[in-house]
Amino acid sequence: MAQLRKVGIAGVGSHLPAKVVTNDDLSKFVDTSDEWIQQRTGIRQRHFASEDEPPAFLAIEASKKALERSNLKPTDLDCILVASTVPDHHVPITACLVQRGLGIEDGRVGGFDMNAACCGFTFALNTAYHFVAMGTYENVLIVGTERLTSILNFEDRGSCILFGDGAGAAVVRPLEKAGRGEILSSSMALKEDFEATHVLAGCGARPCNPERVEKKEHLLVLHGRDIFKFAVRAFADLVEEALKPYGVEELGLVVPHQVNRRIVEAALQKLGIPMEKVFLNIDRMGNTGAASVGIALEEADRLGLLPKGKLVVIVAFGGGLTYGHVLCRW
Ligand code: UT7
Repeated sequence: MAQLRKVGIAGVGSHLPAKVVTNDDLSKFVDTSDEWIQQRTGIRQRHFASEDEPPAFLAIEASKKALERSNLKPTDLDCILVASTVPDHHVPITACLVQRGLGIEDGRVGGFDMNAACCGFTFALNTAYHFVAMGTYENVLIVGTERLTSILNFEDRGSCILFGDGAGAAVVRPLEKAGRGEILSSSMALKEDFEATHVLAGCGARPCNPERVEKKEHLLVLHGRDIFKFAVRAFADLVEEALKPYGVEELGLVVPHQVNRRIVEAALQKLGIPMEKVFLNIDRMGNTGAASVGIALEEADRLGLLPKGKLVVIVAFGGGLTYGHVLCRW
């Protein structure tokens, strides 16, 4: 096999819809309270996209910022990977909408959409890493983008309070060009669990019809309590495994999927890692699904919280179930 190239993360960007929805706003139409949501999840507010801000729009805005911070033009890209649980349409794929939206001429880039639920950004980063390491592509744009509010059941207080909309993007390049964020390892895992969380209707297995819509089968069902324990274990095992070859003293920051403050706290406590070593913005974002890790990475980078030369562990968990990590040296 050819020698693999070293790969880095050149620049990250994010975009959030303008509308902010607080816990008090939600408690006006669903039986909940600011106190319950903050205590059980760590969420204070989240962003909701309008119909003028579909996933492709959010992705294009986040991608422009990631490109700018990478000192690249859209035409420098070779490949676009878009991760979304709820893309704009089944067809056309969102990657094509992003290609057009960034002003890239037809036929110039490759790419595709992928769905790994809340692992979207992490699995896209993993995929881009392999494309660049193999020498297939030089400059890969990855973007996780969600308008999860389009599938929320606002009569279900157990799920609708958790989620928000937004997009996070990054440009993955050979390390000598990226200059930072060397990817050292990555993993992906699947565990089928339909019951834990699903959207029953609206795709190939069960197309929507008025009766199914009436029964709200096109909206998200989440059995959060069942997922909670699994997520704690998955996060803890993934971080532990990722750090094993290096040692916990080399850890700079854990950037987890922003699923629930308590899940992250419990996982890190198991490993004896203090919360100062974890980046959380769930208080302001809620869970933005495939976008969450990208949005968190962008904010941590902008605030200068990714320590140079130290390890950064990206870890995610999502519906499917899906789980995995990407380990970088910043
Ligand atoms: O990104 C991947 C997808 N996301 C997840 O997998 C989420 C993982 N799970 C979680 O984050 C948590 O399980 C939740 C935040 C969803 C729920 O927290 P919990 O501590 O597991 O609460 P629970 O489901 O055990 O419910 C405790 C109580 C119940 O009342 P009773 O039966 O004890 O009387 C619920 O009915 O809290 C009630 N409850 C609420 N009360 C006020 C559930 N949701 C709410 C709410 N406001 N929004």
